[in-house]
Amino acid sequence: MMKRIRQFFHAVFAEVSAEDRAFLKQNLSMEQQALFFGMSVPDQCHALRTAHTAIALAENAAAKVDLPLLTRCALLHDVGRRDGEFGVFWKCFAVLFAALSPSQAKDYGDDDGSDSVLHRKMCVYYHHADIGADMLLREGFAAEAEIVRRHHKAPAEDDPPELRILRMADEMN
Ligand SMILES: [Fe+2]
Ligand SMILES: [Fe+2]
Repeated sequence: MMKRIRQFFHAVFAEVSAEDRAFLKQNLSMEQQALFFGMSVPDQCHALRTAHTAIALAENAAAKVDLPLLTRCALLHDVGRRDGEFGVFWKCFAVLFAALSPSQAKDYGDDDGSDSVLHRKMCVYYHHADIGADMLLREGFAAEAEIVRRHHKAPAEDDPPELRILRMADEMN
């Protein structure tokens, strides 16, 4: 609950600084920056915090980590939640709906062809990993797409270290 409250305040006061922009320029290509800035500002700030946490976690990782790849994946992991499609209100609503009535929320999230607003929002909530991975794949970023697609999937034996660290960093932010 405390994490959700913290996330809410982060979302309300979100702002991307000049320092953040320099960090993005260092780590993302122009095409990747365009995808990044396609997210809402609160999601951009969440991705930046996730990237900094991931970099810190990688320093103590036992396995060898591809740090530039991890940083790009952390910055791009939620690009499937595009601005205007999933703002602060709908994010809060989806989190509450999924917590209070998980099976009903999942039914709304399933891609059954319904065109209601609630269906579309819950579809983005549950499927943004696949949506974002497909966007990255269309731009030719296959390695990033592979990790982004799996960031909400249950941990598996063959998870690369970058995916494991991304999941932890995402959970902390
Ligand atoms: Fe996500
Ligand atoms: Fe995330």
